[in-house]
Amino acid sequence: MQPREILKDIFWVGCVDYNHRDFHGYSKSPAGTTYNAYLIKDEKNVLVDTVTIGQAGTLLCRLAHTLPPEKVDYIICNHMEQDHAGSLAEVVERVKPERIFVSQTGLRSMEGYFGKRDWPVQAVKNGETISIGKRHVVFQETRMLHWPDSMVSYVPEDKLLFSNDIFGQNIASSERFVDEYHRPEEFEKRVKEYYYNIVLPYSPIVLKALPILGGLDIQMVAPDHGLIHRGADAVAKIVGMYRAMAEQKPQQRALIIYDTMWRSTETMAMAACSGLEENGVPTRVMWAKTSHHSEVMTELADCGAVLAGSPTHNNTILPLLAAQLVYMKGLKPLNRIGGAFGSYGWSGEGPKFIQEQLASMNMAMPAEPVKSLWRPDKEVLKACNELGKTVALALRKACGTA
Ligand code: FEO
Repeated sequence: MQPREILKDIFWVGCVDYNHRDFHGYSKSPAGTTYNAYLIKDEKNVLVDTVTIGQAGTLLCRLAHTLPPEKVDYIICNHMEQDHAGSLAEVVERVKPERIFVSQTGLRSMEGYFGKRDWPVQAVKNGETISIGKRHVVFQETRMLHWPDSMVSYVPEDKLLFSNDIFGQNIASSERFVDEYHRPEEFEKRVKEYYYNIVLPYSPIVLKALPILGGLDIQMVAPDHGLIHRGADAVAKIVGMYRAMAEQKPQQRALIIYDTMWRSTETMAMAACSGLEENGVPTRVMWAKTSHHSEVMTELADCGAVLAGSPTHNNTILPLLAAQLVYMKGLKPLNRIGGAFGSYGWSGEGPKFIQEQLASMNMAMPAEPVKSLWRPDKEVLKACNELGKTVALALRKACGTA
């Protein structure tokens, strides 16, 4: 359990969880994750963040390869969520720090998780700077990115930003830097997966925070999950990805998510897919039974349109699609175009319900929902194709390619 020196006298001392598959209990993490913690050796030795519950031993073991843990003077908690502060009590017990720095709002969540403790906690103000010897650490609040107490810590002498959850990805690997990672396409996918399942609702805040972070001279971004962004190009790339994901400009791809009982709705999904493809919109079709709700959101990162379908079931829709729509709505996607369809046997409320759900996400709905009584016939399939075509044309217009 060796640390990794990422800059002179600055070490990664986190832990790698290759088996993690259920990030925060709701988002798939097929490539595992890391909990990154960092040590700055200076006149004051500073531990930046800790690790998840049950992993204090790993952190302390790595730390001990660079200096005895009791030599840590300061601990910075950029965010009190338990994947970064779950081991805090054990680490504090071992290290006995002179000071623990948290944001103003971090005080409340610290007490909420750990109760009243006799810890030497200092709540820092936005923009506050501390000296640790040859270096300084500047604290910048990033409230609601993605928790109320979130902040980032900047070391100007090293042009290094400890960015907390921002700019992270769920990737477990031996490599510590993006430029060392052997699967660049997977890196981008994991950035989108993280953003679209964790950060997306806070996109307006991201757009306000990026210029503030852009005002700092940053050559390295060290997040709390996954790989570290090293060098001006890598920093510009991840900042550019965040800007694009936050702006959510329309993209000329579509997603069809559906559930089906006896394949009628599935047949309708394929007809709608043809209507999209024939009109210049590449489309990904996903079945709610085989695609986890977080995978669907990751796919949405590249799609400007969403069509959703379900048979009517007990006067509403099938539960997996209902869960998907609730999940999607909570993540507040912007600037999408929607469409709804589904089969029914008697009451037939499903497609209208889906239409209302998508409209409640502020999606433009250029067509009425398409319904099919029992098995879709030629006319219904034609209507599904038309639905795809109408959405495709609306999307292309939004993209400026119509
Ligand atoms: Fe690393 Fe806030 O989760």
